[in-house]
Amino acid sequence: MHLLVIGTGYVGLVTGTCLAEMGHHVTCLDIIPEKVGLLNRGEIPIYEAGLEEMVRRNLKAKRLQFTTDYRAAVSSNSVYFIAVDTPIAEDGHANLNQVHKVISSLALYMDDSYRVIVNKSTVPVGTAHACAQMLESHLRQRGIIPNFDVVSNPEFLKEGCAIQDVMKPDRVIIGSDQERAIAIMKEIYSPFMLNHERFLVMDAISAEMTKYAANAMLATRISFMNELAGFCEHVGADINLIRKGIGADKRIGYSFLYAGPGFGGSCLPKDIRALRHHAQSLDYPMPLLEAVETVNVRQKQVMGNKIFEYYREEGVDRISEKTVAILGLAFKPDTDDMREAPSLVLIRQLLQAGVNVRLYDPVAMDNAKKLIVDSTQVTWCQNELDAVDGADAIVLITEWKQFRFLDFALLREKMKGNAFFDGRNQYNAIEMAKKGFDYISIGKAPVLAQAANRVI
Ligand SMILES: NC(=O)c1ccc[n+]([C@@H]2O[C@H](COP(=O)([O-])OP(=O)(O)OC[C@H]3O[C@@H](n4cnc5c(N)ncnc54)[C@H](O)[C@@H]3O)[C@@H](O)[C@H]2O)c1
Repeated sequence: MHLLVIGTGYVGLVTGTCLAEMGHHVTCLDIIPEKVGLLNRGEIPIYEAGLEEMVRRNLKAKRLQFTTDYRAAVSSNSVYFIAVDTPIAEDGHANLNQVHKVISSLALYMDDSYRVIVNKSTVPVGTAHACAQMLESHLRQRGIIPNFDVVSNPEFLKEGCAIQDVMKPDRVIIGSDQERAIAIMKEIYSPFMLNHERFLVMDAISAEMTKYAANAMLATRISFMNELAGFCEHVGADINLIRKGIGADKRIGYSFLYAGPGFGGSCLPKDIRALRHHAQSLDYPMPLLEAVETVNVRQKQVMGNKIFEYYREEGVDRISEKTVAILGLAFKPDTDDMREAPSLVLIRQLLQAGVNVRLYDPVAMDNAKKLIVDSTQVTWCQNELDAVDGADAIVLITEWKQFRFLDFALLREKMKGNAFFDGRNQYNAIEMAKKGFDYISIGKAPVLAQAANRVI
């Protein structure tokens, strides 16, 4: 089939490329000419494992092309996927400006041939219906009899394993009550369903709501564990053991139960806020989700507060003389996405306190540089060893695989101090203390080097 994907960000680019990989002829459209130029040369503006090769392969096979030309793209394709950004506005509502611009652009060039408009962007409940009305009114103004359906098809891919998620989706939700549109959607996705069918067909409103419900559930699990983690620290329990203890219950399961420095990224924080705002506008408060957000805001400060507390207890009154190495800046491993990353809150806290920071991330350095104001306090480092050089403390914020087996003896040698703040509970506390670190993690009492050596 000939498909148009509008927006070439994390969702549009991966979706478009995977659709081409399955044999469809895909045009990906974006309004940024530089990005489109890069993509047509097979260069990828985002980090996503395996994507570059797949884009190049499909460009070469002429199943994939990139353009800024709405007119040509609209007339030569019959199904239009919308995958543009829907950021949060100041007051918390989902900003649909880009979605509306897409509808206006489509309306300029559509004729009376049947078309399916598929919305993959995360949008408030009711948007498919509103877009259909808007498109119909634009077309009528041009004297064209509307002949289209709008389908909600929310996207559930995870950055970092996006290709796998699109190629082998847990489910494909088709939000429509129009048989013709549903049949076309099934045909498009059938190559992804050879094993067994995973279509869930429902009305558009429920489809839109399902996306928010999924993200709200995931965020709730994280905030729940983070809230418990703080309590564990007060009473001497270990959150890692609690996770195993409750995860073994099949009704609960192990996923998304890790305590950490708070959730970030382009989806969870924004979608919770947008859902709450929508509910508020209907005079329906959502106190549970409000608490999820409040816990997350507090949690993003936790690593910074642990650092301040550690040095206070050490009797250090001039924290501004300290240097802290931060390992990992992206909001999670395997992506270069820095949107709402917990590292940003920590860095802000440290810089405000006058602390020097040495920063390293395997792939997110360029994006981080756009968000962190350069100053004499900030040093951008080449690798983890460079980052810890002369540092008083290390903070692990993003659990990249390459940080799992660090050469701790060498780290200790290069460091000035011996504090290790583990924001992802990656290491064994006693082992770390035996290696000479004061080891402070989340949801568990700190283990200091001296104490461990006494035990030995
Ligand atoms: N990133 C994720 O992990 C993820 C997962 C599921 C759902 N989503 C949702 O998918 C949507 C897209 O997210 P993203 O992370 O890919 O966004 P993004 O910001 O990475 O990319 C959006 C792209 O759309 C382009 N664009 C904006 N307006 C346009 C227009 N009028 N015409 C053509 N192109 C236009 C932008 O230039 C940009 O390249 C959002 O609603 C997001 O909430 C994202």
